[in-house]
Amino acid sequence: MRTCYNCPLSEIKGPGASSLIHSVTAPRNESEPVAKSSQPCKPGLSAVIAGTGFDVPTRVMTNAELEKLVNTSDQWIVERTGMKERRIVADGQNASDLALAAAQRAMDEAKTNPEEIDLIIVGTVTGDMLFPSTACVLQHKLGATNAAAMDVSAGCTGFIYALDTARQFIATGTYRTILVVGVEVLSRITDWTDRGTCVLLGDGAGAAIVKATAENGRGIIAGLLGADGSRGPDLYQPAGGTQIPATIESVKQRLHYLRMNGNAIFKVAVRSMARTVKRLIDAARITADDVKLIIPHQANLRIIEAMAKLIRFPMERVFVNIQKYANTSSATTIIALDEARKTGRIVAGDFVILVAFGAGLTWGGVVIRW
Ligand SMILES: CC(C)(COP(=O)(O)OP(=O)(O)OC[C@H]1O[C@@H](n2cnc3c(N)ncnc32)[C@H](O)[C@@H]1OP(=O)(O)O)[C@@H](O)C(=O)NCCC(=O)NCCS
Repeated sequence: MRTCYNCPLSEIKGPGASSLIHSVTAPRNESEPVAKSSQPCKPGLSAVIAGTGFDVPTRVMTNAELEKLVNTSDQWIVERTGMKERRIVADGQNASDLALAAAQRAMDEAKTNPEEIDLIIVGTVTGDMLFPSTACVLQHKLGATNAAAMDVSAGCTGFIYALDTARQFIATGTYRTILVVGVEVLSRITDWTDRGTCVLLGDGAGAAIVKATAENGRGIIAGLLGADGSRGPDLYQPAGGTQIPATIESVKQRLHYLRMNGNAIFKVAVRSMARTVKRLIDAARITADDVKLIIPHQANLRIIEAMAKLIRFPMERVFVNIQKYANTSSATTIIALDEARKTGRIVAGDFVILVAFGAGLTWGGVVIRW
């Protein structure tokens, strides 16, 4: 078991109704801590996604450009990851800018005004600043003056952690309209001299408006979140927190860039996403055949294919857009959900699973009845 990081320097709103959620403890096995799945009890309010949207920077960075930065090749990147290009923010463009554009698109579709939003939850590890939260920055930019706001840090599982948190606030009757965002500006914590990570990452944002409905059987019908903090050193940003504050030394040692043990993460990613999908299917009391589309975290096409193989799920029903945006961490599943919906891959009544893993390590998923 890993115990240390490889660090070279040693107004309450709403009625507050009683909880309508019950949790089911998933079976424990040696390699995974307990994770909980939960479903709304009847009668209860369901959380439906009333609108989605995404935004990516206009600047496209191709594999050919990366060939000029590090010792890599288009062929290696495509064969080993499935990625062809990614988007990179312009100078002065920040996470809250991408989040704002994505949120406005989701709000337009959901016909939601800023004043109607009760809560903003932003999944991110690359927010504008450590604090205030990017959710607060976004609240101000949107003019969502009635909204509470907070960030969720769960690595690439950030959007799913945020979405499942939103569901709980709706099921308890606390809030009726929640803006959930996944956004990353990974390019600013990328070591552009490290070929093991720089070819994998991109910038982007996706957003969803989640609303309460009394209609049963629609919306987010099951969720599951998990974490294994002992695996934190496999993917982390050493400096910038209070453990290693910014110093000339920390900058010289490139400690403000993301570090990753790619091989170790690969295996955990496949296993944790496969297990999460199986448990979600059980929790939702459906079968794999009922699932119209799985939308997995877009970290590596080979991880996605290995997960599908492990659960014997056809790739034709697995959504992939990694070739266009690479790994945008918290943003991948919500960008993919928006693209899947708007290209006709999801219609009313479909069961869709979002599933991800990320730094923490974390993993999680939701089942949505569209
Ligand atoms: C990082 C990752 C793409 C590496 O792919 P891989 O097939 O495991 O490759 P390996 O690390 O085994 O390296 C194989 C060889 O390619 C080389 N290599 C690594 N990156 C390279 C690059 N960008 N271009 C060319 N060669 C590269 C390695 O140095 C190694 O060379 P060697 O055999 O001479 O030592 C893969 O492990 C991965 O995707 N892991 C998960 C990462 C992830 O999901 N991160 C986000 C979590 S949310």
